[in-house]
Amino acid sequence: MLMSGLIGHRGARQLAPENTLSGMSAAIDHQIEWIEADVMLTSDHVPIIFHDDHLQRVTRHKGTTDQQTWAQLQAIQVQPPYGSHWPADTIPSLVQWLSTARTLGVGLNLEIKPSQPKLAKLTARLMLEVLKDFPDLPIVISSFNGAALDTCLNIAPTYPRARLWDQLPTHWADDARRLGVSAINLNNFKLRRHQVEQLKSQGLECYVYTVNRPARAQKLYHWGVSGIFTDRPDLMRETAFSRSSHIR
Ligand code: G3P
Ligand code: MG
Repeated sequence: MLMSGLIGHRGARQLAPENTLSGMSAAIDHQIEWIEADVMLTSDHVPIIFHDDHLQRVTRHKGTTDQQTWAQLQAIQVQPPYGSHWPADTIPSLVQWLSTARTLGVGLNLEIKPSQPKLAKLTARLMLEVLKDFPDLPIVISSFNGAALDTCLNIAPTYPRARLWDQLPTHWADDARRLGVSAINLNNFKLRRHQVEQLKSQGLECYVYTVNRPARAQKLYHWGVSGIFTDRPDLMRETAFSRSSHIR
């Protein structure tokens, strides 16, 4: 298995500020062993952990993320979700994210976020440079962007890779073979049981985003899904996924 059954989505997105070190701690508080986060670049090409092209959904600032320098972004706080007891927190750099994961002993799913192929490839290259200093961390790389995964295959083929799709396209098997991915990660709201069976028959694992209801998690487990990304690790501890542990 590529990762454990439960993966904290953007840390623990409904419990603490998303994609922050608080989010990583909140996930670990609920026995999460793997955490998903999104990698983007600042205007001065520092890899950071952030999801959106724009700042305004999760911060009190406006503007485009990739037009801010790292120095400018360090002054910006990510706000907590409604009802959270965690305070606002800063945007982490990829180096800070990896260092903290190493200290806390969690595995990381790094999603290369930019959708524009040239920027996605640059993000992949700069991310892999940073990863050289963290050779022992359990890492899985994923992306919606085939060009980013292709760059990872060419530069650092030993990192396990997962292809993200919103909906499984007809050419999924050829695409997966070409990119050498071990898993296909799919949208919970569009997934059908026969798709999980098709992937497994081709030797591919399937992880599903984003699952926040325990009853749905149980159903996906019985479909043969390897793991789920969840914003609510606190609700998932009694599901069958919490028993499938995997840290190399
Ligand atoms: O990697 C799973 C999931 O994070 C993909 O969607 O938009 O939350 O990055 P998104
Ligand atoms: Mg993501």
